Amino acid sequence: MTLPFQTGEKTAASALSSLAIPGAARRFPALPAPSLAWNKDVEAATACLYARVAKVIPAIEWPFHAPYVKAINELKRERNAVILAHNYQTPEIFHCVADFVGDSLQLAKLAAASEAEVIVQGGVHFMAETSKILSPEKVVLTPDSEAGCSLAASITAADVRALRAEYPGVPIVAYVNTSAEVKAEVDICCTSSNALKIVESLGSDRVIMLPDRYLAENVAAQTKVKILAWHGACEVHERFTPQELEAYRADNPGLTIIAHPECPREVVEISDFAGSTAAMIDYVRRNKPARVLLVTECSMADNVAAETSGTEFVRPCNFCPHMKRITLPKILDSLLYMREEVMVDPLIAERARASVQRMIDVG
Ligand code: 13P
Ligand code: SF4
Repeated sequence: MTLPFQTGEKTAASALSSLAIPGAARRFPALPAPSLAWNKDVEAATACLYARVAKVIPAIEWPFHAPYVKAINELKRERNAVILAHNYQTPEIFHCVADFVGDSLQLAKLAAASEAEVIVQGGVHFMAETSKILSPEKVVLTPDSEAGCSLAASITAADVRALRAEYPGVPIVAYVNTSAEVKAEVDICCTSSNALKIVESLGSDRVIMLPDRYLAENVAAQTKVKILAWHGACEVHERFTPQELEAYRADNPGLTIIAHPECPREVVEISDFAGSTAAMIDYVRRNKPARVLLVTECSMADNVAAETSGTEFVRPCNFCPHMKRITLPKILDSLLYMREEVMVDPLIAERARASVQRMIDVG
C-alpha cells in the first residue's frame, strides 16, 4: 500500500521561509517585562488555577509556574490575544492560560471563529500555519518556530506534484499535519477525527492519503476505497507496540486501551477504541473507565487526569519533543515581544485555505 517512490527534498526550509519579518512587532510595541517573583499576591491570584492542576502538578512546582501564569493572563487582555492549546500541551498551559483547547480540527475552527486580534498557538508549527491560513487578518504567533512535526517534515509540495503526475485523476487527501505548501497542492485536507468521512466523500474508488502511513492503514481497514499511502509516520505514535500494550493489559485487569489512529495498525487493532485526541478525551468522560491507558502523547493523560476522578491512568506514554518546545516562558515572550509571527505567502495561503475549507464543509 505504501507508495513506491519518494524525493529527498525536505520541508524545513519551506517551513522556515513562511516565517517572515515580524510586522506585528512594529504594530504592537514591546511591553515592559512583568515581575516574575513568587509572593503572597501571586499565590492568591493563581490559587483557583492551581486547584485545576493540583492532581498533576506538585505544590512544590507551582511557584515556578504561577508568576508566568499570572503575567500571561494579564498580557492576553492587554494584547487582545487568545491562546489556543492543543491537547498535548502541558497542564500549566492547557488548564491555566489557554482560552481554547482541542484537537487539530477544533483548533482550526476556533482560530477562524475567534474575534481576538492576536492568536498565540500552543502547538506545533503546522497548527499555527493552519490558524494563519484560516485567519489571514489576524496576527498568529508561535512561541517557538522550531516546533515541527515528523509528519509535516516527511513530504514536500514537489512530492505531491510528483504523485499527481504519477496518479492522474486520483484525489489527494492531506492530513492537516502538513505544511501550507503541501495543503496548497492537494484536493482536500483531513484530520484524525474526520479522515474516513473525507475519504468516502470523494466518490472515488482510489484515494491517495498523505503523509501518515498509519492513519492511512487505519482508514483503509474501515472502507472499501483503495488507499494509496505516503510513507510518513509520527515519531511519537509509531513507537507503541502491541506487545507492550498486551503486557500492560496482563498486569492491569480491566484495563481500557484507547489509541490515536497515528499508531500502527496492530496497536489500534488490540485497542478498545481509536480516535482523535478530542475523541479519546470524550471517550474517557463518557465511559469513565476504572483504568485507562491513553496510547498517545504524555501530556494528554495529565490533562484528562487533572479533571477526572475515579479513573486510574496507566502509563506508558511517549513525549513529543516538538510539542514540548512550547513553554510558559516562551508564551510570555511571544506576548511581550509579538514573536514569532507566522506568515504564509498569500497565493499559497489561498490554495491551502481552499483545501482546509473543503474539509470543514464536509462537516
Ligand atoms: P489530533 O487532531 O487528534 O489532535 O492529532 C493531531 C496530532 O497529531 C497532534 O500532534
Ligand atoms: Fe507531529 Fe507526532 Fe508530535 Fe503530533 S505527536 S506533532 S504528529 S510528531
